[in-house]
Amino acid sequence: MKIASVVGARPQFIKAAPVSREVRQHNEEILVHTGQHYDDNMSDVFFEVLDLPRPDYNLGIGGGSAAWQTAEMIRALEGVLEKERPEFVLVYGDTNSTLAGAIVASKMGVPLGHVEAGLRSFNRAMPEEINRIVADQLSTLLFCPTQTAVDNLAREGVERGVHLVGDVMYDIALQSAQAARSRDVSVRFGVTPGEYLLATLHRPGNVDDRGVLEGIVRAFGRSRRPIVFPVHPRTRKNLEAFGLWDTLRASVKAIEPVDYLDFIALLMGASKVLTDSGGVQKEAYFFGIPCVTLRDETEWIETVEDGWNALVGTEPEDILDAIEKFNPAGTKSKSFGDGHAAEKIARILDKFV
Ligand code: UD1
Ligand code: UDP
Repeated sequence: MKIASVVGARPQFIKAAPVSREVRQHNEEILVHTGQHYDDNMSDVFFEVLDLPRPDYNLGIGGGSAAWQTAEMIRALEGVLEKERPEFVLVYGDTNSTLAGAIVASKMGVPLGHVEAGLRSFNRAMPEEINRIVADQLSTLLFCPTQTAVDNLAREGVERGVHLVGDVMYDIALQSAQAARSRDVSVRFGVTPGEYLLATLHRPGNVDDRGVLEGIVRAFGRSRRPIVFPVHPRTRKNLEAFGLWDTLRASVKAIEPVDYLDFIALLMGASKVLTDSGGVQKEAYFFGIPCVTLRDETEWIETVEDGWNALVGTEPEDILDAIEKFNPAGTKSKSFGDGHAAEKIARILDKFV
């Protein structure tokens, strides 16, 4: 079968890597990069370290308002799919690239598969929540990472085409752990394993509002342990625009975004993670690192139920309290699959007619 896979943002390159490898065993895959993320350290490095084939097309859309960005992607993607005539379209996660891929496939009458289907934060103020709901509604095959995701879809009346396959991010995390361990991050980033915190931030609710971002920066600045913080470009732009960049750099180790193996290596050496990322919450769980999430809700509720992830929101005192005191008790018991989710997706696609 000829499959067009649509990716565009950092986490999608990571999710696509294990799936693409499996899908290509029995299918022809055309990889389309929307260009949503475009800096080398947000895009190209992932193709290199994850052995993801170079995109057949890069639509070069870049940043802009959500509606403009999505509209441009839809327009450009339609041209590519008209030329390539795929028999199936595969989308990942919940970004505007996911939404664009889903809409074009549905308008062209091409069956759609959604990897990471069924996730819900139940917060419709998040652009991602809308993107997920639309993608799920338009999908023929819905590849769920967790039972929670399957249950969410059932509550919305979506049961046909739903497959519980496990999490492709768990696959790639397991596959990459050994290579990550050989990365000399403590030397390069000047940190002592077990003695630092790793932070990431990029949710608009946290970084687009000056007051919220300033509160977080000030809380980070009061941490007794050093914080390593690979700064997402959205966050960097806002820190600079709000005049907070120098304040941040005075108290934390602010670095450029790093490649996946460096990130996993930094994560494995961290004593705690501070994040608002979806993927990073899970990776912290996979590797048994306590996670403090600067949000009020999460799609990855299993990590919270199991006691390894604390949802603390963005009040500085709450963040500091969790930095000092959050200490998961007990073993991890929740399932994100068996590390073979990508294989399962590919075998389901092999049988799709
Ligand atoms: C997007 C996704 C989000 C995902 C995140 C992963 C949507 C609605 N959001 O958020 O779900 O969690 O990616 O990181 O799709 N920028 C650069 N260089 C880049 C990439 C972005 O400078 O390589 C700038 C853009 O120009 C823009 C800002 O960062 O000003 C935000 O980029 P955008 O892709 O719109 O959203 P993200 O915040 O990255
Ligand atoms: N990541 C990375 N380098 C960084 C920060 C994050 O490789 O500097 C990886 C991280 O390991 C995870 C993914 O990017 O797999 C998460 O992406 P992001 O936080 O941008 O998006 P989200 O998961 O919130 O959609």
